Amino acid sequence: MNWNRTSLLGLEDLTVEEITMILELASEFKRNLQNKVLPSKNLKGKRIVNLFMEPSTRTRVAFEIAAKSLSADVISIASQSSSLTKGETLKDTANNIQALGADAIVIRHPSAGSPLFLSKTIPVPIINAGDGSHEHPSQALLDIFTLQQKLGRLDNKNITILGDILFSRVARSNLWGLKKLGAKVTLVGPSTLVPKEFEKLGAVVSHDVDKSLKNADAIMLLRIQHERQSTSHFPSLEEYTKIFGLNMERAKLLKPNAIILHPGPINRGVEIDSSIADSKNSVILQQVANGIAVRMAILYLCANSSDLQ
Ligand code: CP
Repeated sequence: MNWNRTSLLGLEDLTVEEITMILELASEFKRNLQNKVLPSKNLKGKRIVNLFMEPSTRTRVAFEIAAKSLSADVISIASQSSSLTKGETLKDTANNIQALGADAIVIRHPSAGSPLFLSKTIPVPIINAGDGSHEHPSQALLDIFTLQQKLGRLDNKNITILGDILFSRVARSNLWGLKKLGAKVTLVGPSTLVPKEFEKLGAVVSHDVDKSLKNADAIMLLRIQHERQSTSHFPSLEEYTKIFGLNMERAKLLKPNAIILHPGPINRGVEIDSSIADSKNSVILQQVANGIAVRMAILYLCANSSDLQ
């Protein structure tokens, strides 16, 4: 199969074959990283620009390491230190980055649709590193990569996503990707943060944490995304933690081999107790580490797309 895309905007668009192609290439890059050998597939001479207009630790650093591991030149720009603070538009910023010779732009932006807008504005591959509550494709791909490593094939596996689904781009991207791979996805949390509408996207919607834990092969926890909420969606954080937080007592309902994921940043003592975050069933730091190989695959396919066709 050939890779026929220049940009990666979300998992809603991707076919099963495209998801599989990214994950297989990520496996190859992971072996290169483990064996400390330079990959034969690389981005030597290519310039990757990271344009992050929201805070990030994992995604920005992993994209930087991924680009460097492929021998690309990488430049990272944070919105606070860019001319966006002087009134320049996103379109003008992107045009200038193109004029400076970027071969791909990795963008994180608080507004849903910003990566799509840029992909229609400039002839440079655009990689979505999270746009508002819309999509976070590289995160979902590394989550799926980690799930496959732990559970094997995902068809008919029960994956529960617990927390603030409404404001979560991670939940949306995972839902698209996991459903395409045949998994059964249950979204759980308070009804204000897990509306029934998600059933139309193929999810099972539940507000019963204990029931959904019993069936899960994997559970992904999400933090409350206060930065995207203008009003409170539950009475208090203490009450949320009591009813929906994953603690040792509640985790006893899980199957013994069920794995625990979290895209980070984790809020210890809120959606996840420290004893769970640091438990043997937690794969949180493995997700982070897998983020490098998965992002190498994404960068390689997108930044090379004109040469690959
Ligand atoms: N999971 C995630 O996107 O983390 P960062 O915000 O640190 O990039």
